[in-house]
Amino acid sequence: MNAAERRAHLQGRLSAIGEKLAFGSGIEELMDDLGQAMSGSASLHMLGGGNPAAIPAVQAIWREEMQALLHQPGAFDRMLVNYDSPRGNPRFLTALAARFRHEFNWPIGPENVAVTNSSQLAHFMLFNLIGGPAADGLPRKILLPLVPEYIGYADQGLTPDLFAARRPLITMLDDHTFKYHVDFHQLAIGKDVAGICVSRPTNPTGNVVSDTELLGLKALATEHRIPLIIDNAYGAPFPNILFTDVAPYWDEDVIFTLSLSKLGLPGARTGIVIAAEPWIDALASMNAVLSLANGNVGQALVAPLLESGRIMQVSRDIIRPFYQAKRDQALAWTREYFDASLPYAIHECEGALFLWLWCRGLPIGCREFYERLKRRRVLVVPGSYFFYGLEAPWPHAHECIRINYSQPEPVVREGLRIIGEEMRRAYAS
Ligand SMILES: Cc1ncc(COP(=O)(O)O)c(C=O)c1O
Repeated sequence: MNAAERRAHLQGRLSAIGEKLAFGSGIEELMDDLGQAMSGSASLHMLGGGNPAAIPAVQAIWREEMQALLHQPGAFDRMLVNYDSPRGNPRFLTALAARFRHEFNWPIGPENVAVTNSSQLAHFMLFNLIGGPAADGLPRKILLPLVPEYIGYADQGLTPDLFAARRPLITMLDDHTFKYHVDFHQLAIGKDVAGICVSRPTNPTGNVVSDTELLGLKALATEHRIPLIIDNAYGAPFPNILFTDVAPYWDEDVIFTLSLSKLGLPGARTGIVIAAEPWIDALASMNAVLSLANGNVGQALVAPLLESGRIMQVSRDIIRPFYQAKRDQALAWTREYFDASLPYAIHECEGALFLWLWCRGLPIGCREFYERLKRRRVLVVPGSYFFYGLEAPWPHAHECIRINYSQPEPVVREGLRIIGEEMRRAYAS
């Protein structure tokens, strides 16, 4: 049943929150669209989703770890038969805190770590814990200092208008490369701002907020006694899909989130939060209500790698070079297939799985561009979905598309060739 049919069936029978959650979002419609386009077609070029690549050397490690669990007396059964505490598996929490203490000297212990059933859920919990109307009815918003930002946040507020977003500054690095920066002049923090959130590296752009920008955001958070949420789903130390030298940062004003998904374990649905103890206690309470406990398969597979430190080597020597080679290859194809005389630009890809293509002055909107590409069996994500929470419309939002470059080479190559052709047609129309 699609979202429209569901709406017709359930209209008037749900709460306001139910209506917000159950009637779908723009991105759900798009995902349905992608799902339908995917079914039964071998010739499809799937550059649309956010799935990480299957890296054989990494998949082999998860198989080895599962074998080890099967062979250690009692380990496999213990993993499946026991509920963990709502904050996570004690061995995993200890191993994670010890690894971050060792690698970055962060002053944290297991009391600073919570596990959730995916980092998607961690953000839902954090945003609704911090944002939404206060007990006195005054609004509390999450400030996104730089959009485009991760589409997965857009519909997570249980109450409307959770996000207040700001446009970035744009610098051209060369004719066909650009970069977004936080525009601190626009970041006046009003009484209604309850938290700041940034993904680093950023989905969809591959931008990495610089150390200086991050410290600027953190200074604002500290000054206003609000938390800075740093979403590190692609960052260091794991999965480390990061092609620039920046330092991970944490102190008591930061809520730092991680995920096991881009380590090649999206099926394990495991998110991690590192924060000051009161935040962790609050999340554990909330997790008990929402989930009772977490799935523990991902934690069981990854704990030994945290304890031995192998997670660092896998991320640094296998995952990062794998994606870096894919990024370099994809960029080389854009130079080959995109007409250099056209005013397109690609965001400097400093991390994550995506090329963010900006077609300046595109005569058709990004939705129409997406539709034309879909007709040619190439799936991307129209950029406008990533620009939510802004006060005023911005033409730039309709000139961009997101391209996932992590799929097998023939798929990405042919996809980019067709994007190049359609871009030329679009500018000619
Ligand atoms: C920036 C960002 N944060 C969070 C998530 C959610 O990851 P998961 O729920 O798989 O842990 C994603 C997924 O693609 C993401 O891109």
